[in-house]
Amino acid sequence: MNRDAILAEMGLGPVWKLRRPLPAIAAPVVPHATPVAPEDQAAPISRMGWPELASAVAGCSACGLCDSRKNTVFGVGNQAAPWMVVGEAPGAEEDARGEPFVGQAGQLLDAMLAALALTRERDVYITNVLKCRPPGNRNPAPEEVAQCSGYLTRQVALVNPRLLLLMGRFAAQTLLGTDASIASLRGRVHKVGSTPAIVTYHPAYLLRTPLDKARAWEDLLFARANDKRLQSAATAST
Ligand code: URA
Repeated sequence: MNRDAILAEMGLGPVWKLRRPLPAIAAPVVPHATPVAPEDQAAPISRMGWPELASAVAGCSACGLCDSRKNTVFGVGNQAAPWMVVGEAPGAEEDARGEPFVGQAGQLLDAMLAALALTRERDVYITNVLKCRPPGNRNPAPEEVAQCSGYLTRQVALVNPRLLLLMGRFAAQTLLGTDASIASLRGRVHKVGSTPAIVTYHPAYLLRTPLDKARAWEDLLFARANDKRLQSAATAST
């Protein structure tokens, strides 16, 4: 998608209109390996490699969401990507397909990434705080976040991205260890360990509140500017 075309559609900034029809629900994307019961896992989550981590998630029964899920939703994209995007939890389509951000919010996310000339296959790794769908798309419960966040922390360590884009309150609050609002967290460079992290609105919120797309565009430009600045600083110091 052409960024100028997107920008031209809106006086204030990009509209990120959904242009393509939603894809048909396909066969589930099976996570990378066969499930392993948690009690059979050799390594703690913090030392797992990708295959063990994917197996642990696929076989996870640490909270009640395992009873209602169709599929676990592990993550998608380039496992060595420069940017990592973190959302909240799978919705119905993600649960059916086993892949994050494939519904309407995912289309908007793809359009937002395209506006920065980024693709989900090449430039980003995408995952959620929760790996299972909360029934009826309710908010994640604190105990569900607590049980699941070790997987996310390990994914962040394995991808080791240059930049984290935290979309929505659950991603921001979980990884930054705060209960501050999105509004108060936007516009600053946070750190998750040593990784710079930028907070912005969740695409599902933007679908409901299109006027805030202009603010989200500012956040993306802020993220890109900081990423470029840090890259230049790193190059200069070598
Ligand atoms: N919302 C999310 O936070 N993640 C998804 O994967 C889909 C919708």
